Amino acid sequence: MATRKKPVFVCNDCGAGYTKWQGQCSECKAWNTLVEMRLGNRARAAKSSRSGYSGHVESEIKTLSEIKLDDVPRVSSGSDELNLVLGGGLVQGSCVLLGGEPGAGKSTLLLQVLSHLASMNPALYVSGEESSQQIAMRASRLELPMSQLKIVSETSAENLCAIIETHKPAILIVDSIQVMHVDDIDSAPGSVAQVRESAAMLVRLAKQTGMILIIIGHVTKDGTLAGPKVLEHMIDCSLMLEVSTDSHFRMIRSHKNRFGAVNELGVFAMTDRGLKEVSNPSAIFLQRDSDVSPGSAVTSTWEGSRPLLVELQALVSDSPLGNPRRVTVGLDQNRLSMLLAVLQRHGGIMVGDQDVYVNVVGGIKILETSADLALILCVLSSLRNLPLPRDLLVLGEVGLAGEIRPVVNGQERMREAEKHGFRSAIVPIANNPKKKMNKMRVIPVKKLADAMDVFF
Ligand code: TYD
Ligand code: MG
Repeated sequence: MATRKKPVFVCNDCGAGYTKWQGQCSECKAWNTLVEMRLGNRARAAKSSRSGYSGHVESEIKTLSEIKLDDVPRVSSGSDELNLVLGGGLVQGSCVLLGGEPGAGKSTLLLQVLSHLASMNPALYVSGEESSQQIAMRASRLELPMSQLKIVSETSAENLCAIIETHKPAILIVDSIQVMHVDDIDSAPGSVAQVRESAAMLVRLAKQTGMILIIIGHVTKDGTLAGPKVLEHMIDCSLMLEVSTDSHFRMIRSHKNRFGAVNELGVFAMTDRGLKEVSNPSAIFLQRDSDVSPGSAVTSTWEGSRPLLVELQALVSDSPLGNPRRVTVGLDQNRLSMLLAVLQRHGGIMVGDQDVYVNVVGGIKILETSADLALILCVLSSLRNLPLPRDLLVLGEVGLAGEIRPVVNGQERMREAEKHGFRSAIVPIANNPKKKMNKMRVIPVKKLADAMDVFF
């Protein structure tokens, strides 16, 4: 019986499927993102005969306690920062997605990682974007070990699967998923259908063979991964290589990790010798002159499992506007407005006729509330034109009643600051350490007014 061809439309942004074309995707509300996805006969036949994941099948039903826990061996990536973000290293049979803007250094990072891993495990680098010569040139310029690493230029997912089956690599890198295509699908490489099908094909093979698969993915200009969200559902770990503007620092963050914690932050620096890891990130974000200018305060944020010291800067100036500006870079603007209201109500300081600009140094984004007090103090410092001491750490969340609330892991944050030469700290009273700190003078505060009394 001949089945009628049903046109299928999918949204290029979120991957939602429709039977009819429409201008706006009802799921993600994006305009003009629906494209027709045409499946060839073979793909359609294959689709109807198998459904979903067809890797290792375990149909016997067991209780959790009966399942043997073989120690999941971790393969070290050769870089401590990357291992940290991965939750300890690469896991066999896992699929990792590395996203990032063009020029972030995705290819460079993975080439460095793979050339070191290749001496212990059979590794294959699949490049669809750069020619083999280009990659070899880069490797020789970076003086990477080149004798063990195998490399192939391939953009067909079917051919790649055949290559994998004959050569059986333990680690495979696909650079990038946007250039891979499945022959049976008519749409262009990089479209949802192609990205989804080729990724699914590779992931299935990786799960069957226990191979470690690392996929490079591009991001669109608004920072989301190009291609459908479904890609993120398929993989085990999603990493993002972030570039802060005009800086040679690269931050790698995990957004999803089935084998570890998310929101770990790894820091690298792009040098003329490739990506070098920065093992002491606090030190680089804190490079300050010996005489500190007014409007600067240092706080500590918590990144995954470790503290990071960051500097906040504020500039307060008379505003010519009826509606003064509140500008933040790296912080939430509503939070600033709220804290200025608290400052007015509980600190008696009016900034209603002043423009307030706040910046986090080094292109870092602070999502925590633990920087509240530091933010208020650096605004005050700029307003009064009085610098805060260079070796002062400020911690604490500020509540609407002007109370200073505790932060998590206060002890560790203080200890990190002490290591970096900080000798005094203003902290919430609940975070006051029970044991005296060795070199740091801790000033516990309960109310905003207490904190202001210390210096202003
Ligand atoms: P690349 O890894 O090609 O980026 P992606 O694959 O994410 O698009 O990195 C390219 C950028 O890195 C390029 O702008 C040049 C810079 N770079 C250096 O500064 N030093 C180096 O040693 C290398 C290899 C690249
Ligand atoms: Mg690249």
